[in-house]
Amino acid sequence: MYVRIVSLAFIAGLLALLPSSAQNAPSGMMGSPGKSASHAAPHSTDPWWKHAVIYEIYPRSFQDSNRDGVGDLNGITRRLDYLRDLGVDAIWIAPIYPSPQVDFGYDISDYQNIDPQYGTLADFDRLVAQAKKRNIRVLMDAVMNHTSDKHPWFIESESSKTNPKRNWYVWRDGRAPGEPPNNWLSLFGHSAWQFSPRTGQYYYHYFYIQQPDLNWRNPQVEAAMFQMLRFWLDRGVAGFRLDAVINLFEDSSLQDEEVLPGTNKFGDPNESTSRQEGLPEVHDVMRRMRSMIDTYPDHRVLIGETYLPSVEELDKWYGGAKHNELQLPMDIQVGFEPKLDANEFRHHINDAETRIDGNQPLFVFDNHDNPRTASRYGDGIHNAAIDKMLATILFATRSTALMYYGDEIEMPTTEPTSKEQVKDPIGITGWPNEKGRDGERTPMQWNSLVAAGFSTNPHTWLPVAPDYKTVNVQMESKDPDSMLNWYKKLIALRRHNPALHEGTMTMLDGANSQVLSWSRTSPNGRVVIVACNFTADPQVISLQGAIGGPAKTANVLAASGGSQGKSFVDLNAISLPPYGSLIAEVK
Ligand code: NOJ
Repeated sequence: MYVRIVSLAFIAGLLALLPSSAQNAPSGMMGSPGKSASHAAPHSTDPWWKHAVIYEIYPRSFQDSNRDGVGDLNGITRRLDYLRDLGVDAIWIAPIYPSPQVDFGYDISDYQNIDPQYGTLADFDRLVAQAKKRNIRVLMDAVMNHTSDKHPWFIESESSKTNPKRNWYVWRDGRAPGEPPNNWLSLFGHSAWQFSPRTGQYYYHYFYIQQPDLNWRNPQVEAAMFQMLRFWLDRGVAGFRLDAVINLFEDSSLQDEEVLPGTNKFGDPNESTSRQEGLPEVHDVMRRMRSMIDTYPDHRVLIGETYLPSVEELDKWYGGAKHNELQLPMDIQVGFEPKLDANEFRHHINDAETRIDGNQPLFVFDNHDNPRTASRYGDGIHNAAIDKMLATILFATRSTALMYYGDEIEMPTTEPTSKEQVKDPIGITGWPNEKGRDGERTPMQWNSLVAAGFSTNPHTWLPVAPDYKTVNVQMESKDPDSMLNWYKKLIALRRHNPALHEGTMTMLDGANSQVLSWSRTSPNGRVVIVACNFTADPQVISLQGAIGGPAKTANVLAASGGSQGKSFVDLNAISLPPYGSLIAEVK
């Protein structure tokens, strides 16, 4: 599923078939927090998240401040000026809680503290305060489907059948001696059930064995988790990204999943997952969670890790027309569309515009679980142009934009080349078919110095990608045509141009399978057109008919792919280079 895009596409396909379901800053250096022009707050009464650029930080890999080769909170704080200048509104930090780090933080052993390798609660508070001075909000990763097997709750739960925490996890008898309760599989390979000799029962884990699932049918679990959310809300976080939220409930009848043809990357039979995810009960929890966070001021937000097979399923996570569940469940239909196909992108963007009951779309192309876009959509020749065009889609549509650290400099995916190098356990279990997620988690490339400026220690937890001497923030800052400057330009336009900031959106030229076009119209009627060439050939399109009226020209606001230089275009003949994109304001 979200583990690798190949399997995501595969599982999405299966679900569709199923009935139910810069420089190395010296230590302590931090520039002045003042607002840059690019970060001034725009006029709008909308909640902040509606127009936001949210930047995902994988904390192990962003900036190391204490020379242990692993990123940390003080490192993030040190880079806040960079994030402000890029124009981000919020950072989502992947888990920083105490953890045995089997799943690099997604196995939590204490929900209300910071893992010492990332810092302390005082460092966290300082990060939130410094971010606030720069108008940057902080979002936490809420991992509520499972804990670590080292969490005191699980240690108690495992200790005896009569322990008060026994029912906090999902325990069952095997169906026969030596046989798990049913055929359910873990997403990370093999049976989802682990035998515990202490009590002779099995516990359920959708992810690693060291990540036992919590039993959300027990109200005490919900109470504990809501209390945990409050702990962080009270500390000033702006909201949460809800990890694996579609998996909170399992079918309590424990009926087998349907066995499908073929085997997966781990050699297990393919199976449906309809009894292990997307159960209707989860929506009651989402409504209660939304009511709870709505008692806090300043528009706290819930973002869902919602890998869903269709727009209909996605709409349910908003609460449909009631708008009473998540404000921003992730729409993976656009950014994880398997092919670079203008018609498919148009179809999915249009769905987000018209079929989610007026809720706010959240597009995402990259994260810490999937190869970066250049590896998924690149053709090896036009990768930079393709990535620029995808950024145009992310920032110039009406969607809230969720980006991943390093996208802005076009960091590559660098997969391990041997099993011995792999850090992510699924890459060990699944080698060589599944190489794990190390490739998209390599250290941020800040400059051409030791460890790319990520650390002063040359031994970083994952190796720095080999291209860091040329692909880095410092080099790209100086190149007007770099990915970094393209991102900055798009994000600034999105903030300052009223049509791009808050305009309505209309798809244009709908029968064109080479070029995807749309317009944005500001509240006072200014029209901006956007066109993206999805092919390796130059294209010429006319949007005059779609815009209507007498022949018009448009002022170029931004152009990528080699068409830079022109200050205006004729709407009857808009030229786009291979994989070029254009944003222009109609005169
Ligand atoms: C989703 C996270 O993004 C992924 O990294 C993690 O392994 C699983 N959930 C389990 O928490």
